[in-house]
Amino acid sequence: MSNLSLTNTPVKKINADITLNEYKIIQHFLNESCGIVLTDNKQYLVKNRVTRVLEQFNLASFHELTVAIQVISNARNQKLKAAVVDAMTTNETFWFRDDTQFVELKERIIPTLVAKKNGKIKVWSAACSSGQEPYNISMCAEEVAGNCQIQIIGTDISDTILKEAKAAVYSEMALSRGLDEKIRKRFFQQTEQGYQLTRKVTQKVRFQQFNLLNSYSGLGRFDIIFCRNVLIYFSDEVKRDILTRMASSLEPGGYIFLSSTESMPSGIKEFEVVRDGKARYFQKTVK
Ligand SMILES: C[S@@+](CC[C@H](N)C(=O)[O-])C[C@H]1O[C@@H](n2cnc3c(N)ncnc32)[C@H](O)[C@@H]1O
Repeated sequence: MSNLSLTNTPVKKINADITLNEYKIIQHFLNESCGIVLTDNKQYLVKNRVTRVLEQFNLASFHELTVAIQVISNARNQKLKAAVVDAMTTNETFWFRDDTQFVELKERIIPTLVAKKNGKIKVWSAACSSGQEPYNISMCAEEVAGNCQIQIIGTDISDTILKEAKAAVYSEMALSRGLDEKIRKRFFQQTEQGYQLTRKVTQKVRFQQFNLLNSYSGLGRFDIIFCRNVLIYFSDEVKRDILTRMASSLEPGGYIFLSSTESMPSGIKEFEVVRDGKARYFQKTVK
């Protein structure tokens, strides 16, 4: 194999060992830049996931990487930082995850909002990964009768995963995770690249790269927020901060969905819990 890259820069031989000090620098960087808390002794995880970033940026070692991410931001190290965050995020998702929540959305929440708001509903799928969650919300709206003009924004910190979400083309394997035959036939078309989701569903959704640690003021206000399976990566303080700021982004009486295994941290007074059938979610208190 040639030891020259396309730019004629020699390709460096990689030493993928990581020292405790280098690990601590990456741990601190992740916590500061995207809120992710890496507990101690997770060197193996960083090594497994970030070694490919060393290759991608032609860095010889974790020492070179940690030096580069600590310098004042410039174009190259911003790309490097984004690549480290990308490598360390977990994008696990599937269709109709916590399906009782989607039943509730379709049968009760969307019809209630359609009646109350003349059909216009705004939804934020925060940390939407490869798009299954916002597209499922769109599918639910598609099944609700009446004048439903739903607008859904899907955001995620990872540009790479958002590219997949925007393309809306899924593999057989991805489809097999949570979709029944009827929905497959109704909303997907087989192409050479995979299964393409119909425009009827995709046109209600737009995507934006967004870090949940940043200000929400530019996003607007929402009737419903889905914030599922992402708070688990953050400290209690960051969880509380995110949920308090999400409360400010919700209309009075608006709804927030966490996953069925996540709870509302204590001390957050803006929401009351709603238990309906098998689903559990939270509603912003109307003052
Ligand atoms: C496990 S997935 C959850 C996907 C979907 N919400 C679900 O429940 O199936 C977590 C997502 O959170 C994103 N994420 C992690 N930290 C983030 C941050 N600070 N801001 C925005 N998104 C973040 C990751 O990129 C990843 O796609």
